[in-house]
Amino acid sequence: MTKKNVRNTGRAWLGAVALIFVFSAGLLPAGELKAIKLNPPDLKRGLPFMETLAVRASVREFSAKELSLQDLSDLLWAADGMSRPAENKSTAPSAMNSHDIRIYVFMKDGAYLYDSPKHELLPVLAGDFRSQLMMARPPRPAPPAGATPPPGATPPPPPPAPSNPPVQIVLVSDGERFTRGDPERKFEWGALDAGIVSQNISLFCAATGLKTVPRALMDKARIKELLKLTDAQTVFLNHPVGYAK
Ligand SMILES: Cc1cc2nc3c(=O)[nH]c(=O)nc-3n(C[C@H](O)[C@H](O)[C@H](O)COP(=O)(O)O)c2cc1C
Repeated sequence: MTKKNVRNTGRAWLGAVALIFVFSAGLLPAGELKAIKLNPPDLKRGLPFMETLAVRASVREFSAKELSLQDLSDLLWAADGMSRPAENKSTAPSAMNSHDIRIYVFMKDGAYLYDSPKHELLPVLAGDFRSQLMMARPPRPAPPAGATPPPGATPPPPPPAPSNPPVQIVLVSDGERFTRGDPERKFEWGALDAGIVSQNISLFCAATGLKTVPRALMDKARIKELLKLTDAQTVFLNHPVGYAK
């Protein structure tokens, strides 16, 4: 065997071992997913603004029906779409116009990243990971032994984890987008920016009959691992989104 052959055989083995590792970890490369070109936003849809506020409510039960392309397109544009591209401005304000919020969309076939300037979903990871993101709220701790709660003070049970939403949105702030500020300040700005995108999502859903709930509780370690996030990227909120059950 020549030196070249030995080198090539070695590379082939390394490739095979890498593939086995990737598949056994349940991770498929994004290669088999295609970018999803989103539709232009329908600016005429939805309830009037004050009615939207009146009906906004957290919903945790969803029909299994997948979102239509138009609903998905409008949802993402409402969340943080480029509304004034000439000024690099979007539907959600962000600290110093940093556009630090990365919107990840988990669907049946895989996870995508919303590219707002292109209004497109870029493939990140193939495979259905939706059920791995959520955690049920932990039960409340029992009152200390001997403590008698005041009458009528029994707290309601914690809300259940959402049931099989067709779309799971995860909001991540990328601290590296901020050109100024210490880590504490960047964390604070990121949290605020995520909250604003979250509210855009909630209001869009309320206006158009879609259902959602903002959730801070989720498996952040698994999300970080799946999305290969850096230490400068912080997972803040998730939004299951779907139609009424
Ligand atoms: C920052 C934030 C985090 C939340 N986290 C969760 C959560 O982890 N799980 C959940 O079921 N609801 C969560 N919620 C939803 C709240 O429970 C809900 O907004 C609140 O009960 C008020 O109900 P409403 O949204 O219908 O007005 C969260 C809301 C916010 C604003």
